[in-house]
Amino acid sequence: MLIGVEGVDAVGKRTQTSLLSSWLHSNNITSSSISFPDYGTVIGREIKGYLLGRRDYSPEVGHMLFAANRWEKKDVIERLLSKSEVVIVNRYSASNLAYGTAKGLKLDWLINLEAGLPKADLVMVLDAPPSTLYPRRGLNKDKYERSIELQERVRRAYLHLAEEFGWTIINAAQGIESTNHTIVATVAKALAERGRTV
Ligand code: TMP
Repeated sequence: MLIGVEGVDAVGKRTQTSLLSSWLHSNNITSSSISFPDYGTVIGREIKGYLLGRRDYSPEVGHMLFAANRWEKKDVIERLLSKSEVVIVNRYSASNLAYGTAKGLKLDWLINLEAGLPKADLVMVLDAPPSTLYPRRGLNKDKYERSIELQERVRRAYLHLAEEFGWTIINAAQGIESTNHTIVATVAKALAERGRTV
């Protein structure tokens, strides 16, 4: 099962991904985690330059790079899926749909960039008002993180797309532990639906 953990910047995806991994481990469910963007590849380095404003790409090129970065890792994702029961992706295709449409790109065009990649079986959108997340940000904000207005639009895009695509919205404003409990319950239910009881 491929699980996408999504949400606006600084909503706590990394913490929740790692708590979910620990929970899976303690329940003897084999899992792997992977994050996007993967900044370690050639395209990943271009993405870093774009986010830091060192590369002046149009939004179209920027979002093609994000998708290409996943295509670079297609084999790796497939390999992880073949050897683990659960693969957790910290940001995946849904990020490109939410950020891309928030920046005015066409949804169909963005969907096409992802067509052919392994599809997430469960997408969890961690949701909290971006204004409450600002204190969590470090000093090295990238071009997206600097704009609270963009983050608000991205949040609305996630909520709208969640309805369209059946993504699960997780209230991430309830504290780390409660958020983790909600995530674990959601994953346990999805596993049970696939015949894997925990
Ligand atoms: P990060 O802060 O999680 O490393 O992600 C960097 C930024 O890239 C973040 O603001 C979200 C954005 N992004 C997209 O717009 N599309 C994508 O497909 C991915 C993976 C990230």
